[in-house]
Amino acid sequence: MPRLRGPTVTLPQGEDAWPLLNAHLFGGNDVGGHNVAPRPDVLPVDWAAIYGREAPLHLEIGYNRGKFLVALARRMPEANVIGIEIRRRYCWRLANVLGPDPEAPRNLRFIWADARAVSGVLFAPGSLTGVYINFPDPWWKKRHAKRRLVTLGFARELSEMLRPGGRIWVKSDVPAIAEEFAEAFAAVPALSPPEAFAEGTLPPTHREATCMAQGLPIVRYHVTRG
Ligand SMILES: C[S@@+](CC[C@H](N)C(=O)[O-])C[C@H]1O[C@@H](n2cnc3c(N)ncnc32)[C@H](O)[C@@H]1O
Repeated sequence: MPRLRGPTVTLPQGEDAWPLLNAHLFGGNDVGGHNVAPRPDVLPVDWAAIYGREAPLHLEIGYNRGKFLVALARRMPEANVIGIEIRRRYCWRLANVLGPDPEAPRNLRFIWADARAVSGVLFAPGSLTGVYINFPDPWWKKRHAKRRLVTLGFARELSEMLRPGGRIWVKSDVPAIAEEFAEAFAAVPALSPPEAFAEGTLPPTHREATCMAQGLPIVRYHVTRG
């Protein structure tokens, strides 16, 4: 993967911008991040039209460089895969890398936005088969705690977006965060208790590879909607 500098971090334009959905959803690929709302005329989002087919929809939140997101799309060609990432440079870069690549998985799209703000609007109840939260930022400081990804409210929202049997998959190297998320999920009656899954069940993420190289322990679990 190219580095995060230089020409890959410019506004994706034209036909090669196909993986990035901000133009479609928000009116421009330079419109995204915090405080964006989908254009009323694209709601409810017609995911089958976006991917050109009906297929189970899998969402990764916070895909960063996209290592896991791309691997997931390649591993599940039968699925439609969507990523949401808050930082612009990762979204523009991934679009500029994949857009012109004839080998890029065509079942992959992504959005530059705050997943907490837009997910409930973009995904209808029961529309998601999988949600992946990999190594979320811990936001240690008390004054930053409000930036944390999974609150009780968001856990409930995510569970409603899942179809019956759908799963939320969590990986983290911060046991306190993994536990805090597990507590939020445990408060949602529709979700099963967390169940551990083994390394290799899902593709590795960038952060996971670093942790494993350093011998750091990693928590991996999923919760399932009944
Ligand atoms: C610690 S990094 C982990 C990156 C990657 N998942 C991995 O495992 O290597 C957390 C990522 O989540 C993104 N992120 C944090 N809050 C987010 C939010 N509310 N919506 C979307 N992405 C978010 C960050 O920008 C960052 O790319």
